[in-house]
Amino acid sequence: MKKTWWKEAVVYQVYWRSFYDTDGDGYGDLEGVIQKLDYIQELGADVIWLNPCYESPDVDNGYDISNYESIMPKAGNIAIFDRLIHEVHTRGMKLIMDLVVNHTSNQHPWFLESRSSKDNPKRDYYIWRKEKNNWRSYFTPSTWEYDELTGEYYFHSFAVEQPDLNWKNPKVREEIYRMMRFWLDKGIDGFRMDVINLLAKIDGFPDAQNPQDISYLGNNPGIHEYLQEMHEKVLKHYDIFTVGEIPFVTPEDGVLYVGENRGELHTLFHFEVCDYMESWDMMKVKEIQKRWYEGLWGKGWNSQFLNNHDHTRLVTRFGNDTTYRVESAKCFAALLHTLPGMPYIYQGEEIGMTGVRFESIDDYNDIAMKNKYMEEVEKGGNPREVFESLLPLSRDNSRTPVQWNDTENAGFTSGTPWIKVNPNYKKINVEQALADPDSVFYFYQKLIRLRKENEVMVYGTYEPILEEDLQIYSYLRSLEKERWLVILNISDQPAEFKLPDFISYQAKELLLANYPANADESIDSFTLQPYESRIYRLRGKE
Ligand code: GLC
Repeated sequence: MKKTWWKEAVVYQVYWRSFYDTDGDGYGDLEGVIQKLDYIQELGADVIWLNPCYESPDVDNGYDISNYESIMPKAGNIAIFDRLIHEVHTRGMKLIMDLVVNHTSNQHPWFLESRSSKDNPKRDYYIWRKEKNNWRSYFTPSTWEYDELTGEYYFHSFAVEQPDLNWKNPKVREEIYRMMRFWLDKGIDGFRMDVINLLAKIDGFPDAQNPQDISYLGNNPGIHEYLQEMHEKVLKHYDIFTVGEIPFVTPEDGVLYVGENRGELHTLFHFEVCDYMESWDMMKVKEIQKRWYEGLWGKGWNSQFLNNHDHTRLVTRFGNDTTYRVESAKCFAALLHTLPGMPYIYQGEEIGMTGVRFESIDDYNDIAMKNKYMEEVEKGGNPREVFESLLPLSRDNSRTPVQWNDTENAGFTSGTPWIKVNPNYKKINVEQALADPDSVFYFYQKLIRLRKENEVMVYGTYEPILEEDLQIYSYLRSLEKERWLVILNISDQPAEFKLPDFISYQAKELLLANYPANADESIDSFTLQPYESRIYRLRGKE
């Protein structure tokens, strides 16, 4: 398989508004990112993915853009952005930006013009219809919003304030390509493309049989033509890295987006784990990983992540955020960094930050959660019960500020944070993690270092073993003479490991473990502690 810099990279996601505030307005900012670059570099990550910081009314935390070529004042300004790129590059790191082009804000001048009259030259920048169909959007009961001004409905896949662009219109596409060149010419190193498979819509908008299954929003005819055109006109002219956010995708469709010969994207995020599995389901995860490996290996590149700004922090959702917080955080880290595909670290994950449970809906900000709450309560649901039911997966679980130290507001801001800090910051914070050689932070650092030094973690084949085991996730990664054995007990009970007979070796070397382990201990059969993780190098014999 062709070797490239980005396949070997580890990405660190910066949700800047919750990262580090330098001007006391309660929001993180780009200056704060600059000030903490040494920290990210110390961890070892080499690509930073920056969530949207474009001008925006901020209805969906920057995913509703009103000006693509300027920076939101909360985040900073263009001069600070330019300095950020420079500082990132000075450290030998790269920066990718969020590209949000399925929709804009309803305050974007294009939309203001578009809605002003039916014969406005920008009318066709968005999707207007006389009638609506029965589709649901991500955040509301209908994808259609009636606009009294012209007596028609416009289409939105997300909030009412996020009208979808009409990608059928070549003028829209040209505007977007021009904007992409603007940022690429500034020197950014690529894009994380927001819901990029939603650009093409089903012709005629026929009613859905089951409107609750919103997969009709994505992967529609025409999408690959758009992406190939984008590649041809923009992407291929730069040495960059692209990752598409692609909900509802199967591996068969996945290769169409990231196939190396197709001229579309480099990698993708699929959501088979994070969207379709409320809690850890070992059999399902193994099956998903295997299917994606078989579907993509040798053809295109995958990504690995277990949380981001839209998904509850991994220790809380999939691991154990009380007794085994540190152990489970390390165990999932070992999993993410040894599975085939690029690992993504979401800020705070590297110190084992947890989800939150605030007291009232007023403590929350997430538009997805708030809209759902209103919808259910309006339908007659008991407010407390509705609230409780939304807590586990609220996106604010992962959006609370990074906990830098044990001072007020976790050292995140000198002002009032835009969202409450997780009260556990006195115990869980960066300062503490950096002072403890056994911390989650240093485990991530070691994993990243291992990846930098061993190509097997990037280019090695993946061979799962003990596939029926409900506690142990184990596999081999092999590249030429190098053979690694990963053994993870993803459970809060001890587990018995027995090496299958077909694996033979002459010598073994323990490369990393999250419990004190005797490197000479036989691995033919042994007991793993809760969330115990070990990575071995096997030598000799096959
Ligand atoms: C993506 C983003 C999410 C946002 C949505 C609409 O899923 O990750 O935060 O709300 O797109 O842009």
